[in-house]
Amino acid sequence: MQSTGSTDIKEIKEYKENQGIPIHGVIMSSYAPQENPFTPTFGEVPAHMAGRAVLVNDLRRALSSAKRHPNLTTAITGARGSGKTALLSFAAEEAERRGWIAVRTVALPGMLDDVLISTRRKAAHLLSPKAARVTGVEVGQMPGVEWEREDEPTNWRNEMTGLLEQLDETETGLLITVDEVQPKLPEMVQLAAIYQIFVTEGRKVALLMAGLPHNMLALETDKTVSFLRRAQKWQLGRIEDYEVEDAMRRTIEESDRFIAPSALKKAAAAANGFPFMMQLVGFRMWDQHPGQREITDADADAGILLANKEMREGIVRATYEALSPVDKAFLNAMLPDDRLSTMSDIAQRMGKTHSYATQYKNRLLGHGIIEEAPGGVRFQLPLMREYIADQQL
Ligand SMILES: Nc1ncnc2c1ncn2[C@@H]1O[C@H](COP(=O)(O)OP(=O)(O)OP(=O)(O)O)[C@@H](O)[C@H]1O
Ligand SMILES: [Mg+2]
Repeated sequence: MQSTGSTDIKEIKEYKENQGIPIHGVIMSSYAPQENPFTPTFGEVPAHMAGRAVLVNDLRRALSSAKRHPNLTTAITGARGSGKTALLSFAAEEAERRGWIAVRTVALPGMLDDVLISTRRKAAHLLSPKAARVTGVEVGQMPGVEWEREDEPTNWRNEMTGLLEQLDETETGLLITVDEVQPKLPEMVQLAAIYQIFVTEGRKVALLMAGLPHNMLALETDKTVSFLRRAQKWQLGRIEDYEVEDAMRRTIEESDRFIAPSALKKAAAAANGFPFMMQLVGFRMWDQHPGQREITDADADAGILLANKEMREGIVRATYEALSPVDKAFLNAMLPDDRLSTMSDIAQRMGKTHSYATQYKNRLLGHGIIEEAPGGVRFQLPLMREYIADQQL
């Protein structure tokens, strides 16, 4: 179908205003409804990535750089729904566009086999027929343990080195992304340790990891991989409202609809700087009247209501219920404060010492439920405060 940019829409609006025609009448007749462009799912690269321009540019620069760039080893942390997986997917796509081989894995047992097999499969066109054989390694072998092949003993590092040498012939880099970083998984530590060897050997490799803040921190404290403390770090925090607005508007207009400015303001405020919520609000307000071209204030109101309910019943409830009683007591002790809670107030309300409360502060920071701000802490997960307040009624 014909795509109509925002200028066309403006023209139609102006024409209709001049002619005294109600906004929806003419527009509907020339509009074939499009699929909902919002992605309130998990790990899907959104139509427009809001508020991550600096990180995205850094990654692009690192992948294009002729020399080894520090951002080729990057650790991304953030709360559930803050956009970690989407960024890994995005980086993998960007890398492939620049001629890299990108393999994606999750920190689970078997991840080393997974990386090896995926590398072989994705790089098959660049490898000798023997090296490209996916069946060459026994899947499920204990990583690091040597095992017999027809010819010689080998192990994960050795197999990967062989592949990297062949990739090097065409100056092709290898990006490994690891999602849901698990500090206690031996294969996770092993992958990071061997990656460090690849870097010191001058190989064209990149490692992008994502996980919850406390898991990433725990991984960095493992002595075997202490180099990770020097990796590039990104904590995915709240996205500014104007950036959310911009991304929402573009997403809508590229799918041939438009949104009333006041509706857009409301929607962005409801998203509260949180990527998953932004997608949820967008998705629900779009679905109110998908056959009409304009998303109105009423559509935004109805969409926000639905999105709030889903966010509370889904992410917020599950997150809260999984917390320990003391974690919950800490959060409850934050409620009397409007914006910021000081640690001394929280400790006093909990009836505990400052250092005891601080332990729980760190746990909750690690889960991305609260964040630090000058002078104290505040809620980070949207609707958590409201959810807890309702529990007290
Ligand atoms: N910067 C962004 N702008 C707009 N939408 C985004 C952005 N980042 C992620 N999203 C959208 O938000 C949703 C959640 O993102 P994602 O699954 O990457 O979060 P996550 O941090 O990996 O969460 P989890 O810890 O639960 O795995 C996805 O549907 C994605 O499309
Ligand atoms: Mg994820």
